[in-house]
Amino acid sequence: MELAKLKVKNAHYDALIIPFGSELEITSFIPEEANAPVNAAIEGGFFKGEDGEIYKLSMLAEGKILNIVLVGLGSKDKINNRSLFLAFSKAYSACKKLKAKTIRVVLDNAKEYIENYYVVEKICEAALLVDYEFNEYKSEVKPSTLERVEFDTSYDRFDEALAEAIVCAESTILARNLINQPPAYMTPAKLAEEAQNVGEECNIEVNIIHKPEAEELGMNAFLAVGKGSVNSPKVIVMKYFGDKDNEDIIGLIGKGVMYDSGGYCLKPPTSLPTMHGDMSGAAAVVGAMRAIAKMKLKVNVVGVIPACENRISGEAYLPGDILKSMSGKYIEMNNSDAEGRLTLADAITYAIREQKVTKVIDIATLTGAVKIALGNKTAGIISNDDELVKIAQEASEVACEKIWRLPADKELRHALNSSIADLKNSAAGSTIGGGTILGGLFIQEFVEDKPWLHIDIASTNWAHEDLPYCPKGGTGFGTSLLYNIVKLMSK
Ligand code: BES
Ligand code: ZN
Ligand code: ZN
Repeated sequence: MELAKLKVKNAHYDALIIPFGSELEITSFIPEEANAPVNAAIEGGFFKGEDGEIYKLSMLAEGKILNIVLVGLGSKDKINNRSLFLAFSKAYSACKKLKAKTIRVVLDNAKEYIENYYVVEKICEAALLVDYEFNEYKSEVKPSTLERVEFDTSYDRFDEALAEAIVCAESTILARNLINQPPAYMTPAKLAEEAQNVGEECNIEVNIIHKPEAEELGMNAFLAVGKGSVNSPKVIVMKYFGDKDNEDIIGLIGKGVMYDSGGYCLKPPTSLPTMHGDMSGAAAVVGAMRAIAKMKLKVNVVGVIPACENRISGEAYLPGDILKSMSGKYIEMNNSDAEGRLTLADAITYAIREQKVTKVIDIATLTGAVKIALGNKTAGIISNDDELVKIAQEASEVACEKIWRLPADKELRHALNSSIADLKNSAAGSTIGGGTILGGLFIQEFVEDKPWLHIDIASTNWAHEDLPYCPKGGTGFGTSLLYNIVKLMSK
């Protein structure tokens, strides 16, 4: 689908999106043919311009059906990027359901609501995100009819915002595709291949660490998780150096458990079918690296993805095992389903010691508990650095991907003490609660003295039902968040 700035006012379109704030101001930007029905809809009290409200009407214009979608943005003092993103997503979605081909979006009708770089960027991005479908395994596909979206706008930075929106949407869509592929297909080797494709597309270096090299490096906690699978583990390293004179290197570490069966602590049948989504952190890192490189950000970033499968076999690791991590710390593995933190521990040590990263940001579908704490639209973050949190919060507003800080509460740390090793990977048997915090506290043990941000996306990574901006399945959550965090840290 193509997105463009409207140039020829009388060109054909079959759906019109008109945004309205709660004042219901009818401006001269509304095409003449739509004026009377829009007026009537408002005067009749059918549409009030409330936040996220959608009113659809169809009329005959020059012998053809013209669909008009009015979208409410609510009152000016209550809007934020996310509310506008959601409202426009609903409007595009309505046009898609009406089988529109060309949509015209009269942005200027709600100028004062919209004239902000990141709002415009996200409104453009939403059109592409809404149009996304994963149809690879459907024999009879009825593909989306959307072909073109034209924006009627006088915003002076529109072209710039549109270009960035296309890169960000494509990168989130890349992440969605990686997540939605079934587990027999999307193995560690396949993900490595996909990362290499991104490397070629964006001209960035991608190195793959195979099992023998990982053994030499001493990444035993990571390797232990992958032991039960015939598909051998890979560590994917993506390097982007856009600011070579600077010594700062941001490490983006993405959990790449390509399938999480739980291992011998087997998950229940209801949880298993979506567990190929346990590499959503990895997908977000691949997507973000693509966007960072495409936008040529002035910053250095190394993406590290420990990719493996948590399966059961005669080779699999066993609860009760003691693992010597790359850091040298011994870990009592008392729950084979708390595998993500084991893979991340070694990936973080590798990023710090071998890639010399100076800041650590990890993103992972780490704990089911984060859904209980925050619901399925907000990721949990944990950090040892207030500055990094501030940046993440600002990036989150821009990205329209919500986060909430949870404390790295030292008073819970003792629950990970082990009687036979340096620490254990889960607080099994304890009544202390705070599962998401404990996951973070475990990871914190491996960040040495580095500023660190942990993002738990176990619940925001997957849509269990269709959302206005994403069909059921992988959401790609985190791609835009990571990209914007890195952008705010760039020069
Ligand atoms: N991959 C899961 C977390 C998860 C749960 C992701 C639900 C998506 C949906 C993770 O590896 C896990 O199993 N965590 C355990 C940790 C526990 C054993 C300490 C959990 O959350 O139960
Ligand atoms: Zn698990
Ligand atoms: Zn997992």
